[in-house]
Amino acid sequence: MSCKLKIGILGSGKGSNFLAIQNAIEQGKLSAEVRVVLSDVENAGILDYARRKGLNAVFVPPGKFRTKLEPAAEQKCVEILREAGVELVVLAGFMRMLKSIFLDAFDGRVVNIHPSLLPAFAGLEAWKQALDYGVHYTGCTVHYVTREMDAGPIIAQAVVPVLPEDTPEKLHARIQAEEHLIYPQAIQWIAEGKLTMSGRRG
Ligand code: GRF
Repeated sequence: MSCKLKIGILGSGKGSNFLAIQNAIEQGKLSAEVRVVLSDVENAGILDYARRKGLNAVFVPPGKFRTKLEPAAEQKCVEILREAGVELVVLAGFMRMLKSIFLDAFDGRVVNIHPSLLPAFAGLEAWKQALDYGVHYTGCTVHYVTREMDAGPIIAQAVVPVLPEDTPEKLHARIQAEEHLIYPQAIQWIAEGKLTMSGRRG
């Protein structure tokens, strides 16, 4: 049997990407194992989903900042992930920027999914930015995480049309359906050792 990639997932929200990843694992499409799920939001849906799947799910109090973790909270996350033997950190709707303590500990081993075709529409509510701008196509991007927000090497993208009758909610739902396909696929490429650190398939 091939060795499974040990992943840790961080999320702040409802957890649909976590669920897509866990389902892909259960269906044998993704050769990975979720060792732990962490959240900076105590009542986040992602923690509920993880517990219902019988996984280790931990709330880490984020501290006093709104957009990042306090250093002690970053250190706590690193310790939990290390203890769990995590090889790849998967951000799935994690709403705080990760800083040096975390990124030094998991250098080049953190991935994220963003709801736009990066480098367009980095930042918050990217689907709303796309709608407001008037683009005809947007999508989603899986990328490595670097110190700059939504800017690391791109691993996978999917294109989604913007339809005339779209609302932000409808467009986000269409983007999320694609996220649930490309995120497990991108992690599988990493599990297979098929990626270079530039994000290109070798
Ligand atoms: C996704 O749209 C993802 O692109 C963004 O945050 C959202 C998380 O959704 N980074 P969910 O919690 O996985 O449902």
